[in-house]
Amino acid sequence: ALERDLAGRHVVVSAGGTREPLDPVRFLGNRSSGKQGYALAATAAARGARVTLVAANTELPAPAGVDVVRAGTARQLREAVLRAAEDADAVVMAAAVADFRPAEYASGKIKKVDGIEPAPIALVRNPDILAEVAADRAHDGQLVVGFAAETDDVLANGRAKLARKGCDLLVVNEVGDGKAFGQDTNSAVLLGADGTEVHIADGPKDILADAIWDQVVARLPRHSAE
Ligand code: PMT
Repeated sequence: ALERDLAGRHVVVSAGGTREPLDPVRFLGNRSSGKQGYALAATAAARGARVTLVAANTELPAPAGVDVVRAGTARQLREAVLRAAEDADAVVMAAAVADFRPAEYASGKIKKVDGIEPAPIALVRNPDILAEVAADRAHDGQLVVGFAAETDDVLANGRAKLARKGCDLLVVNEVGDGKAFGQDTNSAVLLGADGTEVHIADGPKDILADAIWDQVVARLPRHSAE
């Protein structure tokens, strides 16, 4: 039987990849399809949660019973996540957020000019949404979960990132070589700030999603009504 162990909870999930515009027709983006975040939203709804899904540039159908808020850029995603997080029991950042955006936005399409080399694209940092949510929790006991997309030294980088971002749980998945991005399956190590380490073998993204919710449920403070 399905356990509705997230009943009475509000969870926020981000999904997809941000796009940082360069001019009206071009952007800096990434290969996130949104599938992992949508699997998190759908499984949380099935477990009884009220779910706000902040979706960046995905083409997936909205999961049943989930509130979808659209965001294009990292700064729009930040606004939407911070707003939804105000009364959330847990925030899970599965979105692939651009660390940098073009420093300048050209209001007209950048043209190529014969005989002139293209100008380099200057970048500036985007806000780190996960670190901000973790540092500035809307209330005591709010759980913050991050993802780490790594290509090398996956576990060592994951542990360092967990400490740096200040979240409760970090889902470390290996990317590159056709892994994770856009796929229907994923594998990961769930690192807890309390030292736990749970390995999830490669399988459908909703299996990993349910394993993440298991870890969240185990750490949520009890309902005040209980
Ligand atoms: O969408 P799919 O095709 O299903 O692919 C899933 C996925 C590979 C995108 C997903 O599983 C995943 O790993 N998402 C996080 C990708 C990422 O941006 O990783 P990162 O290591 O660059 O960032 C670490 C964490 O900080 C992430 O939780 C990210 O949401 C967050 N972040 C990053 C940069 C930034 N400026 N703000 C953030 O909040």
